[in-house]
Amino acid sequence: MDSAVKSPSLVMTAELKSLARTIRPAIIAIDGPAASGKSTAGFRLAQLLDYLFLDTGVMYRAVTLSALAAGLRIEDEPAVSELAATVHLDIRAPAAGERDGRHCTVLADGADITWAIRTPEVDRNVSAVSSYAGVRAALTEQQRRIAERYGRGDAEKPGIVMVGRDMGTVVVPDAYLKLYIDASPEERARRRYNELRKQGKPLPYAEVLQDIYHRDQYDSGRNLAPLRAAADAIVIDNSTLTSDQTLGLVVQALQTRAASGLRP
Ligand code: DC
Repeated sequence: MDSAVKSPSLVMTAELKSLARTIRPAIIAIDGPAASGKSTAGFRLAQLLDYLFLDTGVMYRAVTLSALAAGLRIEDEPAVSELAATVHLDIRAPAAGERDGRHCTVLADGADITWAIRTPEVDRNVSAVSSYAGVRAALTEQQRRIAERYGRGDAEKPGIVMVGRDMGTVVVPDAYLKLYIDASPEERARRRYNELRKQGKPLPYAEVLQDIYHRDQYDSGRNLAPLRAAADAIVIDNSTLTSDQTLGLVVQALQTRAASGLRP
C-alpha cells in the first residue's frame, strides 16, 4: 500500500485535531439505553479529542457495590442514600500500568473497584439503587462539579465526554453537543450475549433479551431523571451500524455543531 495515502481514520484524526482546538473547553453529553454502544463511541471520541471520558454508570455501580460490601439491604433507601453521600469516588483515566481494557479507573474510598462493579450481583441491584432520590442527588452534584471544572477549561484535559442516562436532560443540559445513541432491544441483547460469551460467562440469548427489556423498563419508567433523549439531542440509531460507522456519525454531528459557529 502507498504509505503516502492516508487512511480515512488518519484524515479524520487530523481534521478532528483542528476541530478539537476550536471547541475547547467543551462538554459533550451522550445518553442511551444499556448496550447501545454509547460508552464505546464516547470513549473513542474522547480519545480522538484528548478529552476525559466519564462513564457515569460506573458511579451508580460503585455505590451499589459499596452498599453490598457494607452489608446494607439494597431496599434500605435511607441507608443506601447516606452511603452515596459519604463514599469517596474517584474516576480517573487509566494509568500506564492499568492497560487491561478498562475505559477508566474507578476508586471507592481509595480501593480500585474497576472490575468488581461488573458482577451479576451489581447488575441485579444497580437499577434500584439508581432510582433513589438521595443517590441521584449525591451523584448528580459530583458529576456537575467535574463537568464544571472541565467546562471552565482549568482541568488537566481540554474537555469532557460524559456518558449516561440523564446527561443531556438533567446533569449538563447546556452541553456543547448532546447525542442519544440507541439500537433495537434485539440487537443490544445480541451484543451483550456475544460479550458474555467472549468473557466465558455465556447466558441464553432469551435471558439476555429479557434482562435488556427489564433494564429499559426500569431506566425509562422511573420518576426521577428517566432515560430520555433531550429535545435538542441528535439521535443515532446504530442497530445496523458497526462501531466505526457509529463513531463516524458522532464525529459528523460534532463537525455540524462546530460549523454552526456557536462557541461552547
Ligand atoms: O450504563 P450502565 O449499565 O453501566 O449503568 C448502570 C446503571 O446505572 C443503569 O441501571 C442505569 C443507571 N444510570 C443512571 O441511572 N444514570 C446515569 N447517568 C448512568 C447510569
